[in-house]
Amino acid sequence: MATAGHVAARAGRLLTVSDDVVLLPDSTRRLRGPAVRPDARPSRPPDSHWIPGIQESGTSQVVFTNPVLVSDSAAARAPGPSDSVCSMAELPRLWVRHEVRPTERRAPIVPSDARRLVERGIAVTVEESPQRAFPIGEYAEAGCAVAPSGGWVDAPLEAYVVGLKELPDGPAELVHRHVFFGHAYKGQQGAGELLRRFAAGGGELLDIEYLVDSDGRRLAAFGHWAGYVGAALAVLRFRGTLPAPLQPSSKEALDAALGASNTGKTEPAAIVVGALGRVGRGARAALATAGIEPTCWDLEETRVLDRPALLGHDIMVNAVLTTGPTTPLLTKEDVEDPARRLSVVSDVTCDTASDWNVLPIYQHTTSWERPARRLHDDPPLEIIAIDNLPSLLPREASVAFSAELTPQLMTLGTADPAWRRCAAEFRAALERLERRERLHEAGRPRPT
Ligand SMILES: NC(=O)c1ccc[n+]([C@@H]2O[C@H](COP(=O)([O-])OP(=O)(O)OC[C@H]3O[C@@H](n4cnc5c(N)ncnc54)[C@H](O)[C@@H]3O)[C@@H](O)[C@H]2O)c1
Repeated sequence: MATAGHVAARAGRLLTVSDDVVLLPDSTRRLRGPAVRPDARPSRPPDSHWIPGIQESGTSQVVFTNPVLVSDSAAARAPGPSDSVCSMAELPRLWVRHEVRPTERRAPIVPSDARRLVERGIAVTVEESPQRAFPIGEYAEAGCAVAPSGGWVDAPLEAYVVGLKELPDGPAELVHRHVFFGHAYKGQQGAGELLRRFAAGGGELLDIEYLVDSDGRRLAAFGHWAGYVGAALAVLRFRGTLPAPLQPSSKEALDAALGASNTGKTEPAAIVVGALGRVGRGARAALATAGIEPTCWDLEETRVLDRPALLGHDIMVNAVLTTGPTTPLLTKEDVEDPARRLSVVSDVTCDTASDWNVLPIYQHTTSWERPARRLHDDPPLEIIAIDNLPSLLPREASVAFSAELTPQLMTLGTADPAWRRCAAEFRAALERLERRERLHEAGRPRPT
């Protein structure tokens, strides 16, 4: 997938050459070296081989298309786009992009963590972004360079472009390494298009969802604040004070709303399922703020599901992460059960498209405009299923996420196993895509 020039960019500061220079946007200069036929090259010393090369001078980088001789020890440190490894002496260069979704106010790196990165010698460029919860001035004060929104398309090839959610529709070829939530490995909508763009440009997706430790635990996630908001919305809905449309706010404002909604009447009985996870712990924290002590279930308590006990609560928060077939927590029959007390379900998991969905009682997520949807009238049952809950508390969610991601970013470009696993997931996804497309071209149905 990688182009020669792309590999060259990754070889980075190891090489020094001079040649005729073609100026490209953003000071990226590509060199077209004199044509060197393989048979006309000087003989190769035993401990070296040919690779395309790059020279960096100041803020400009120079990529040349003809091969350069490097020693194998140097080349061993030079990364390819698919293995994300570079010299230990080389620090990654980060480029924080503007998020295109207008409601997305979160940032993957907050200014205080950007400062930590800069102090480590890591160059950080941050794009201007009108809706980001953190003003660009705070990044500039932290020592970051500032670039216009969308400037990443012209960023130096060795930069890691860091974001959270979807990329804009262009360019068609993605040449950089991108760190973000791609949602592209499980056949999601638009997944094929995104992977094809990476394949076309020789870039790489390092999907944060797959940045895991050796036990498969995610190293940077938004779960806590998703659970906090998900449970808070359920309580507000139960108490009849949930506003619509929802607006991003602060924890202080959300807690004040929870306090104001508490009229001193009998507290609702709430249950959190998946209570030991990140989302579950966040949900329990919000319920505690609301003065509610919930029933907490995790794997152990659902092994044999006590359905009547579940239906005997007023509020349920689903915080389960399924990794295989599981007994559903609620079914259509439960929705129609006349004895059901449960009236508000906040499904933080929002796994509607998954075969392992534990709440197959609704099909479509709800939105900030209409956060709750009625599933049944008598007895009433409403679902809240918002798939971008942490964006409603953008500052708190960003601070917590950035604290987890920043130490990982410090190891980007090294042989760190977590990033290697991430890169391997990307390669596997590309291979699956290629296989599907080959089958399609051969006229056979694509496997799902
Ligand atoms: N809606 C949103 O905006 C949003 C944001 C972040 C995360 N999420 C989703 O929330 C879910 C939970 O994420 P997390 O970070 O808390 O995961 P996690 O791995 O930290 O926690 C999941 C918990 O579910 C438990 N669990 C698994 N199967 C269970 C079962 N059958 N019964 C009871 N408990 C079970 C696990 O033991 C674990 O404690 C994920 O699906 C995630 O994608 C949604």
